[in-house]
Amino acid sequence: MHATSSTPVGSVPLNGLRPLRAPPLAVTIRPIRKSDFELEKAFVQGLSANTGYQRLMSPRTPSDEELRRWTDVDPSREAALIATTVVDGRETQMGVARYVVVDETGVAEFAIVLGDRWQGRGLGRELLSRLVDAAQQSGVTRLFGTTLSDNGPMLALARRQGFRARREAGSAFITMLTLDMATS
Ligand SMILES: CC(C)(COP(=O)(O)OP(=O)(O)OC[C@H]1O[C@@H](n2cnc3c(N)ncnc32)[C@H](O)[C@@H]1OP(=O)(O)O)[C@@H](O)C(=O)NCCC(=O)NCCS
Repeated sequence: MHATSSTPVGSVPLNGLRPLRAPPLAVTIRPIRKSDFELEKAFVQGLSANTGYQRLMSPRTPSDEELRRWTDVDPSREAALIATTVVDGRETQMGVARYVVVDETGVAEFAIVLGDRWQGRGLGRELLSRLVDAAQQSGVTRLFGTTLSDNGPMLALARRQGFRARREAGSAFITMLTLDMATS
């Protein structure tokens, strides 16, 4: 998949993705909105147990309160980009990437998750690179996130984007991913 611009909003054809049985889809990547609550809820409810576990590192189901927080973001310290497409005439969320600034030096924690049917096609790369661009433009100094150490796709995706991967001290299962932003 090829981005047409470095801005976090846009419509991108899935031409570069591995061949699909269905015709290519138009994908829109845009900031999440408060009004996306139902879209995000349907997305989260549609995730397989494995994908949900990879994302939250726990089998729990997010509460409506969490979903509200994830859709009604504070633009002074957070950004969330969603990828959507139209399935059977309805806008459908394919994935989301987000960061939240956690301290006054501009360090931010990120996370990314795609619906199962959209994984392994390059969409993660597209979303993460746009999130990194958005973070850079907003003055974030460092992005970090944690992943299960056996999450091959996440480790490959992050390394390709320039993140360092380091096993968490004291845990064989968790890997810390870090990207220091270039300063101009
Ligand atoms: C992790 C995730 C975001 C990756 O996005 P994606 O679109 O599926 O991944 P991509 O198709 O861009 O592939 C990413 C890389 O992983 C590689 N990859 C795919 N499957 C792999 C596997 N089983 N083992 C190792 N690498 C693998 C791909 O070849 C690609 O590497 P490349 O860019 O060097 O070719 C997505 O799979 C996902 O949402 N997973 C569930 C939730 C999750 O794990 N979130 C991360 C925790 S924060």
